[in-house]
Amino acid sequence: MNRVDYLRISLIDRCNFQCQYCMPEGADLAYVQRQDILTQDELLRLIREVFIPCGFTRFRLTGGEPLLRPDVVQIVGAIARLPQTQDLAMTTNGFRLAEMAQDLYDAGLRRINISLDSLDASIFDTIIGNKGKTRWQQVWSGIQTAYTVGFDPLKLNVVVVPGVNDHEVLDLAALSIERAWHVRFIEFMPIGNAGLFGDRGWVSSEELRQRIRARWGLSEGEVRGNGPADVFQIPGAKGTLGFISQMSECFCDRCNRMRLSADGWLRPCLLNESGQIDLKTLLREGRSLHDARQAVQHLLDIKPDINFKERDPGTEGIYNRTMSQIGG
Ligand code: GTP
Ligand code: 5AD
Ligand code: SF4
Repeated sequence: MNRVDYLRISLIDRCNFQCQYCMPEGADLAYVQRQDILTQDELLRLIREVFIPCGFTRFRLTGGEPLLRPDVVQIVGAIARLPQTQDLAMTTNGFRLAEMAQDLYDAGLRRINISLDSLDASIFDTIIGNKGKTRWQQVWSGIQTAYTVGFDPLKLNVVVVPGVNDHEVLDLAALSIERAWHVRFIEFMPIGNAGLFGDRGWVSSEELRQRIRARWGLSEGEVRGNGPADVFQIPGAKGTLGFISQMSECFCDRCNRMRLSADGWLRPCLLNESGQIDLKTLLREGRSLHDARQAVQHLLDIKPDINFKERDPGTEGIYNRTMSQIGG
């Protein structure tokens, strides 16, 4: 059985983008009320007194958009300083990275995954639901700044949507050649608020690999990470190519993670919330953290039975939250 020691922490459920596949405009999203978001103290207490004792040592900060949380740099610093922290990373849309990358690095963050679905500013703006001045340039400069500051590995996440950005796969893959950028292609999951893209289907990682192989060849690669990506490399490239194949291949049997939502629910699986625990209420009712540790341990014990395994539409509790609320 897999050791579950990786916690993905959603710091906030709001986002400054409205990606079509995540939280499209007009989607009926009920935001968490400010008072229901775990405070920094509550979050750190849970990490120190519940998650670490239960064996979690690797942490990823997600959102919504984690950089919208005003105290994100302090949270990074506090988690990075814990002696038990073996890995701390962040997944961001990159929009605020140009201004924040140095502070995040100084606080102890060393690795970062940034979404970049297109190199074409107008396609990018369509995907993220932007109608004003293009946001592509700001994200691109955030990526450059993060690279200059020294984030390593620096990963770029591309959700591949047929007919929207799949024609850019070779151009995006080429970003891994000259710089140590690790480009990951994610099979689009038509779940939750899949919006305009909901019926476009998905392109398999194997098909993308064939296209890349035909252009440059493809060898096995390696990059530090805790996620489900299969890693390859264009021969001679400085970076790697990752493929996250949740549609064509089920990797639930090697699942090593749980997810904590911004309002303190611990969720055992991206797609299935059965058994989830309301840690915020436990904390705020002043209950002993011994109870919380026991509840988390129990969830760890039953997690293999909850893991998604098959896309059974009848599975109770799935899809109740969107990707922006779960943190991807
Ligand atoms: P590394 O530690 O750098 O390997 O990160 P990661 O791949 O775990 O993190 P990231 O936030 O970049 O995740 C990329 C994407 O992988 C997510 O947005 C999801 O689409 C997918 N993914 C991550 N975890 C799971 C999971 O448990 N189940 C499924 N089905 N997809 C996942
Ligand atoms: N399918 C696949 N990946 C998704 N993400 C958000 N929604 C989806 C979806 N429907 C990814 C984003 C980002 C991460 C937080 O989640 O691209 O990399
Ligand atoms: Fe925001 Fe990320 Fe969702 Fe896009 S995928 S709307 S950037 S949380």
